[in-house]
Amino acid sequence: MKGVVLAGGYGTRFYPVTRVVNKHLLDVFDEPVVYYPIRSLVGAGIEEVVLVTILEEVDQFKKLLGDGTELGVKISYATQEGAGGIAQALLMAKPFVENENLMVVLGDNIFQGDLSEYVESFEKQGKGAKILLKQVSHDDARRFGVADVKDGKIIGIQEKPSHPRSDLIVTGCYMYDSRVFDLIATLDPSPRGELEVTDLNNLYIDEGTMSYDVLSGWWTDAGTPASKLKASILVALEKGVTFHR
Ligand code: G1P
Repeated sequence: MKGVVLAGGYGTRFYPVTRVVNKHLLDVFDEPVVYYPIRSLVGAGIEEVVLVTILEEVDQFKKLLGDGTELGVKISYATQEGAGGIAQALLMAKPFVENENLMVVLGDNIFQGDLSEYVESFEKQGKGAKILLKQVSHDDARRFGVADVKDGKIIGIQEKPSHPRSDLIVTGCYMYDSRVFDLIATLDPSPRGELEVTDLNNLYIDEGTMSYDVLSGWWTDAGTPASKLKASILVALEKGVTFHR
């Protein structure tokens, strides 16, 4: 199984700092954001990772991560020109992946603890895909892909709905079988001009081959100033820091 970290985009929610540095290289507590998804992959037993970012910023990642030795993994780099969506970014990893299952983590997603139990259950599944869900507040759900689950089965995902049908959101950890690149090739751009990961996941759902687990540990993205601050606090607490006023 190969790992993919998607670290593209222009990080406009963090302007002005992201005019000069990629948002995945900002800090969550005491480490760069991108370290966290890489560690999640390493913890799940992944030995090779493809990191996808935009062409103009790939050198920043190479300077920080090199060949990955320090984090205990082999890292290759793939680039996309511009920001065409998560599924389009994933397509850039194709030349590095041969007929293997993939574990994809978004570069700004921070997971508590070990994800290996979910990977093991996906390996047993044989075909299709698996996503990891997390319960959030109803208000927060609007920022994410929201899962519609009925009788223990996932029947659809809505991307950033104004009226979420549930509080179970789709985190940025996706496991796919090797057909994923062929499926991405069938996607049309969304109204915002992107190849959406939610459209890709809905293809697997329609096919009846998408499974899900609900994460037991905490999870947050670090894709907005507020959620990045929350991530820093959660990580700091995890590392035993205490705050006094
Ligand atoms: C992306 C996905 C969304 C998912 C989220 C998790 O949204 O499109 O479905 O819930 O990541 O972090 P983004 O935050 O990139 O807009």
